[in-house]
Amino acid sequence: MGSKQVIFSAVQPSGKLTLGNYIGVISHWSNMQKMYNCMYSIADLHAITVKQEKKVLKKQVLDTLAMYLAAGIHPKSSIIFLQSEVKEHCQLYWILNCCTYFGELMRMTQFKSKSKINTKNVNIGLFSYPVLMAADILLYQSDKVLIGKDQIQHIELVRNITRRINFLYGKIMKTPEVYIPNLYSAKIMSLLNPMHKMSKSDVNKNNVIFLLDSIQCIVKKITQAVTDSGNKIFYDVYKKAGISNLLNIYSSLTGVSISELEVMFEKTTYKDFKFLVAKIVSKKLYQLQEKFYYFRNKELYLRDILNDGACVAKMKAQKTIDRIYHAIGI
Ligand code: TRP
Repeated sequence: MGSKQVIFSAVQPSGKLTLGNYIGVISHWSNMQKMYNCMYSIADLHAITVKQEKKVLKKQVLDTLAMYLAAGIHPKSSIIFLQSEVKEHCQLYWILNCCTYFGELMRMTQFKSKSKINTKNVNIGLFSYPVLMAADILLYQSDKVLIGKDQIQHIELVRNITRRINFLYGKIMKTPEVYIPNLYSAKIMSLLNPMHKMSKSDVNKNNVIFLLDSIQCIVKKITQAVTDSGNKIFYDVYKKAGISNLLNIYSSLTGVSISELEVMFEKTTYKDFKFLVAKIVSKKLYQLQEKFYYFRNKELYLRDILNDGACVAKMKAQKTIDRIYHAIGI
């Protein structure tokens, strides 16, 4: 492993993973494994800002892990672990809370929108959610953080917290960089409301393709996706948000560039185009689902991966915590 840079990424095990999670983040993870030391976490502590059912949460952790494996992440090449199994995340979280300002967290757009949606449960966990992300990242001295576009503001905050703690206590932390593999596809939008991101918590499930949706369901959702009153297929996120989103999806899953697609589909009707997008998505997700079920049935194997991952992660995390405690004087 040696001198390779460390890359960190994580997904919450709340709800079912979506095509947005896959295209924006998870599909890039396997390619990182040769060049980087990869730390891929399942962020279950982040998931409990909303009350979770115990059994469902436990099931979703294994679902998420099986999906990581289906996407080509290999436990011998990457460290895959459950966040809550490395208790140092909470230790560092507290220290970082003491170096984060109320005003900074108030400015987080995700906090603002989530607290507006769920006014009855604006808890402190939701408020300081990005500080726990900072702990995740800094515990492993990560060089890069692979995220979707919606998390940029959070990582900018993490960078500020890092600079502050280095200023206060001496240079004890590496300042992580944002890593977005593909700016276009880093944000897949909702199918019926393409000005908003595709979000697993969307109340209208027709907005979202879940990775485990049946082929029938995928075809139905995509062929119903919102387009516009024109009839030409080209990329323009403002005037043609729906079509642009479908072009993004097609391009990310095939590797064909958007400009090539514009030429390819010059004479195609919206209706036919949507069928073609549906075909590409179905094919990709069918392959993914086959692998997913293969791994999901091996529960002992999945638990072993998490145990081994937590052991290695813990060793690294403890070193960081010791260093920080020492620097701070506790
Ligand atoms: N908040 C991220 C998301 O919802 C998941 C996450 C948790 C994360 N900790 C992280 C992402 C640290 C990057 C780095 O997508």
